[in-house]
Amino acid sequence: MKTRRKAYGAASRKKIVVPSPTSRRFYGHGVPGVDLGQLAGKLIVVEGSDGSGRSTQIAKLVEWLEGNGHATVQVGLSRSTLVSEELEQAKQGNILSHTTMSLFYATDFADQLENIILPALRAGFMVLADRYIYTLMVRDIVRGADEEWLRNLYGIAPVPDVVFYLNVTPEELVQRNFAKKHTLDYWESGMDLGLSRDLFDSFLKYQSMVAKEYKRLQATYGFTIIDANRTPDEINQELQKKTEAVLAGK
Ligand SMILES: Nc1ncnc2c1ncn2[C@@H]1O[C@H](COP(=O)(O)OP(=O)(O)OP(=O)(O)O)[C@@H](O)[C@H]1O
Ligand SMILES: [Mg+2]
Repeated sequence: MKTRRKAYGAASRKKIVVPSPTSRRFYGHGVPGVDLGQLAGKLIVVEGSDGSGRSTQIAKLVEWLEGNGHATVQVGLSRSTLVSEELEQAKQGNILSHTTMSLFYATDFADQLENIILPALRAGFMVLADRYIYTLMVRDIVRGADEEWLRNLYGIAPVPDVVFYLNVTPEELVQRNFAKKHTLDYWESGMDLGLSRDLFDSFLKYQSMVAKEYKRLQATYGFTIIDANRTPDEINQELQKKTEAVLAGK
């Protein structure tokens, strides 16, 4: 009985922060018929290169948010029910043009936006996005896409409440990718760009190009840069603190 009362006491002391409303807008033309004032939840984006530790950090954030009474939902690239299977199939070969691939990813994003992100925000959920339009834009820009065309394409995207960019050096990225997959991914090494025949060399070159573009986009989109060359717990502490500020509407 004593323990039960103690457990109840501990639970009741946990402070549930009701998210403060913030003004929301779309990057461009938006999605027709959506009332932005009704999107009570928060959109938290975690960006970063392949193997930078996004999944690790999102899992920690979800555990912490849910422990504090917030409902969460996760989205990411190539996770739509509409085209994710076909997208994965397309990635097995290299026959689609850059524009077709780009539109494939945009379709995948639009489907998740309409069916997951917007309904979840309307219901007051914390939406955690494992990458967002920035990765898609950066990948297309380094392949020569027109930026104006991309901005228009992704004008449907709501501006997130925060974008955490996990900044990891290319050398550390190689280590993490090898530790996880024992190999480097064809697309994440930019092999389709013909930078080098050597996968390792191409990975370093491609990731440097990508990092340079992210840096350029940072000026326009205002990412919160996180030094992710640290331990998972150190990074998580910083993300929690910054997310708390987001919840408080700061
Ligand atoms: N801060 C860290 N320090 C060292 N290793 C880490 C750190 N964070 C994650 N890792 C390790 O690096 C690898 C990649 O981490 P994780 O899967 O979280 O990254 P990711 O960005 O989600 O990767 P992917 O792009 O493949 O989805 C994993 O083996 C993970 O255990
Ligand atoms: Mg991951």
